[in-house]
Amino acid sequence: MSKFTVLNHPLIQHKLTIIRNKDTGTRVFREVANEIAELMVYEITRDLPLEDVTVQTPMGETVQKTLSGKKLAVIPILRAGLGMVDGVLQLIPAAKVGHIGMYRDEKTLKPHEYFVKLPSDIEQRELFIVDPMLATGGSANMAIEALKKRGAQHMRLVVLVAAPEGVKAVQDQNPDVDIYAAALDEKLNENGYIFPGLGDAGDRLFGTK
Ligand code: URA
Repeated sequence: MSKFTVLNHPLIQHKLTIIRNKDTGTRVFREVANEIAELMVYEITRDLPLEDVTVQTPMGETVQKTLSGKKLAVIPILRAGLGMVDGVLQLIPAAKVGHIGMYRDEKTLKPHEYFVKLPSDIEQRELFIVDPMLATGGSANMAIEALKKRGAQHMRLVVLVAAPEGVKAVQDQNPDVDIYAAALDEKLNENGYIFPGLGDAGDRLFGTK
């Protein structure tokens, strides 16, 4: 079974409370969602491989560590996933960005794929799939399947708020994909929204209704 990790760093928890607040407006919501994504990526990348490199300091030669050149990509699930991309790129500016478009049928709550555009060497990359809300897990599983179908081999799912139902759905269907969240909430409500959650992440990020 894949790992599910809640990143409960105090800064992450504090910032999450800000975006949960219904009175937080679009500008602050957008800014803080990206800050949380940045902090999450800082934690998640602790295991990136390093290699030795020789460097000349003003004082002389020394052998130090450098990232061993593992290729990364961030894959937002449209549209709300876009709200985490800039935060990830703050720390990994050279990462490629792929996009997966999913919409959720409001009646059936089932996801549908409508757009996929990925880096050509997807199979060599470590992928960070980002989506603020892991609700039923339907979109995440569909995105993971879309990536696997195109050759992706290593991926992690990074969300702000997860529902237990969504975590279970992804772990059941994709036991090779580790999941990272800033919070594990109580449940899904009867409309498929996470409670207490933060509402509709896409609408709050983009100021739509
Ligand atoms: N998508 C959202 O934006 N919010 C939820 O609570 C669930 C799915």
